[in-house]
Parts: sequence; C-alpha cells; structure tokens
Amino acid sequence: MLFGKTKTERLRDWMFDSDPYAEFDRASAPADPQGWGSDKPIFRTAIEAVRPKTIIELGTWKGMSAIHMAKICEELGLETEIVCVDTWLGSPENWLEREDVNGFASMRLHAGFPRLYDTFVANVLDAGVERYITPFANTTDNAAVVFKKLGFACDLLYVDAAHETEPVLKDLRAFTPLVRKGGWVVGDDWKWGSVRKAAETFAKERRVQLEHEANKYWFRV
Ligand SMILES: C[S@@+](CC[C@H](N)C(=O)[O-])C[C@H]1O[C@@H](n2cnc3c(N)ncnc32)[C@H](O)[C@@H]1O
Repeated sequence: MLFGKTKTERLRDWMFDSDPYAEFDRASAPADPQGWGSDKPIFRTAIEAVRPKTIIELGTWKGMSAIHMAKICEELGLETEIVCVDTWLGSPENWLEREDVNGFASMRLHAGFPRLYDTFVANVLDAGVERYITPFANTTDNAAVVFKKLGFACDLLYVDAAHETEPVLKDLRAFTPLVRKGGWVVGDDWKWGSVRKAAETFAKERRVQLEHEANKYWFRV
C-alpha cells in the first residue's frame, strides 16, 4: 500500500513527473463546456457535508461535473483532489446515436480516434481549476485495480461512466469499498431503468439507504 504511508496523498504526485496540463496546446481544441446535469444541487450538498480531501469521478466527458465540483471546493477553501477516470473514448450511446450533437460529433474524431480528452483539458484550463483536477485516462475496471493496489481512497465518489446495469453495478461494487467511512457515493441517471436497477441491486446487497432526486441517486458509506 502506497497511499497513507508516504507524505503525498495526491494521486497526481504519484502519477505524473510534471504538470500534466503544461504540455497542452490550448489552441488545439475549441471551447465546448457541455455536460449532463453536471451542476445539480446534490454536488454542493455532498461536498458541504463531507468536505472531501479526495473525490473520484467515474465518467468525466468534457469535464463539466468535475469543474463544477472544483469550483465548489475552491469556494469552500478546500484543497481537494478530484481524480477523473475516463477513457475519453465515449460510451456506447455516444457511438450509436449519431444525430445527437452532444454525442458522436462532440468526440471530434481525428484519424479515427476521439479527441474528447483535448476538449476536457481545454475546459478545465478555461475554468482555471486545473490544480484540483487530476485526469486518469483509463477504464474504470483498470482504475479500480490500480487504486486498490495503491490503497488510494476517497471521501466522495461520483459514478457517471457506463449506463448499462452490469457495468454500473461493477463500478459500484469496485469503488464503494474505496470510499472512507462517512463519505458519500453519488450517481447520475437514476431515470435510466438500467442505472436504477444497478443502484437498487447494490443498495439491497450492501444495505445502504438509497436516496434520489433530479436524476441523481446517492447514499452514505
Ligand atoms: C455521461 S458521460 C460523463 C458526464 C460528466 N460526468 C458530466 O457531468 O458532464 C460518461 C463518460 O464515461 C466514459 N466511460 C464510459 N464507460 C467507461 C468505462 N468503462 N471506463 C472509463 N470511462 C468510461 C465515457 O467516455 C464518457 O466520457
């Protein structure tokens, strides 16, 4: 276990030799601050309740929920690290629903590969919150293995990657054990039957008290 035994508690210090944002060419991506329910009241409620040292976000897209959380942390004077886990390759629906301007087109394919990560970095820099946000470009499955091996924990987990029942349930099962006692888990897309089924299955399994409002669900750990 690395974390908790070393001086640093920030994933960024372990992961990068230098500032991950420093090499970015800001001119390479247009401003595109679009998200989905990324600024709902539950973020403030959870952050004020927990005052998190670490937030893990599963599913970041263009960064709007992470940026919103970073601004709340800044306002509250918290030195929070928000670790964003995303492949930045999009979810199945982003590849399937071609007519959605905030889906496939937003991924800005170049030579067959999405440039969504560049949009995320551009938005984080434009918002001026890069010191709070640490990107971890990987699948949630791989991140769960890495975090577990490192002993990396969080106080607030935001679950917003996949939307199918099995992967959401897998994310909840893999990451909830990394949330410190007293922490919160918040998830998006309660209105998706598949997500709701995953959240309800997990709540029953772990005997946690599930609450929901405005398409978000949450429980305390
Ligand atoms: C709904 S978007 C996140 C929206 C963001 N939280 C916001 O509020 O703007 C879902 C994101 O999850 C990512 N994603 C989906 N499945 C994933 C997986 N298994 N591992 C890592 N990222 C994944 C996609 O690339 C996409 O960017």
